[in-house]
Amino acid sequence: MRLPSQIRMVEVGPRDGLQNESACIPPAIRTELINRLSDAGLGAIEVGSFVSPKWVPQMADSDQVLAGITRRPGTRYPVLVPNMKGFEAALAAKACEIAIFAAASESFSQKNINCSIKESLERFQPVCAAARDRNIPVRGYVSCVLGCPYEGNIAPQRVADVAKALFDMGCYEISLGDTIGVGTPAKAQDMLAHTARLVPIERLAAHFHDTYGQALANLLAAMELGVGVVDSSIAGLGGCPYAQGASGNVASEDVLYMLNGLGISTGVDMERLLVASRFICDALGREPASKVARALG
Ligand code: HMG
Ligand code: MG
Repeated sequence: MRLPSQIRMVEVGPRDGLQNESACIPPAIRTELINRLSDAGLGAIEVGSFVSPKWVPQMADSDQVLAGITRRPGTRYPVLVPNMKGFEAALAAKACEIAIFAAASESFSQKNINCSIKESLERFQPVCAAARDRNIPVRGYVSCVLGCPYEGNIAPQRVADVAKALFDMGCYEISLGDTIGVGTPAKAQDMLAHTARLVPIERLAAHFHDTYGQALANLLAAMELGVGVVDSSIAGLGGCPYAQGASGNVASEDVLYMLNGLGISTGVDMERLLVASRFICDALGREPASKVARALG
């Protein structure tokens, strides 16, 4: 098995995790969580979203979170933006990196951002242009890359086409989201092989949810093809408000345990990660979904 010697972990718990909690976690706790994740050595931590608070109330006050965090030098703190209004709000809040999000499924695009895939890509053009003018890096997401809650199977070529559109628009990296966690390793490799024909593999990230317990296996399959960036969520928090039944992202603790065992370097400290995991689980009043956190906690 040939695997990368190094993996860049992108922590999405404060955004992808907390956006799906029934309780709205106050900005002060979100801020403290991000500071603890920074202390654990994560190189990128998604801070929140500048989307409509009517659609996703859990991400309201992301400006306060951005203002409150201690920015560790060298760490990236991206925020999600769906349109120019979100971009301007992110800019006013001093965001240094943004993420835009499209889908490989028409139905999911409608439910998630109330427009077609084509319209969403048109909407992201001015966002990318404005970001480029200000030297703000843009990360791109494609959702439903291994299945859609409304349409079922998604053809891998559709994923590849949307990923390429985002890449051509200027996204430095495209994160491929198995939003509902239905994928299995061979399917993940097939999707990645199609996408890597249009976007260099070193520009692709794996963003796998763990609904069916397949995320670690899918990650290993992605790493075998050369993917070197992995999104994960502290304590396995997460889901998607527009994908019923989707459980959390693969847990950061579980990913780190696997990578440590494989001798792959990440720069992330397990003890400190567990501190962050305990902190947010206490705030939420629940056990971590992470098996490693349960075993070691
Ligand atoms: P819309 O209703 O079509 O938008 O929503 P609109 O332009 O007609 O505006 C409607 C209202 O929203 C107006 O306010 C706007 O001002 C306001 P009103 O006049 O009614 O008071 N508005 C905004 N407010 C704050 N920030 C903004 C903004 N834009 C408009 N940026 C919209 C379109 C995109 C806004 C909406 O659908 C939305 O916010 N959707 C967010 C969905 C979301 O955040 N989903 C979760 C993230 S995606 C995900 O989790 C998947 C991922 O993890 C990868 C994976 O797992 O696959 C990334
Ligand atoms: Mg997600």
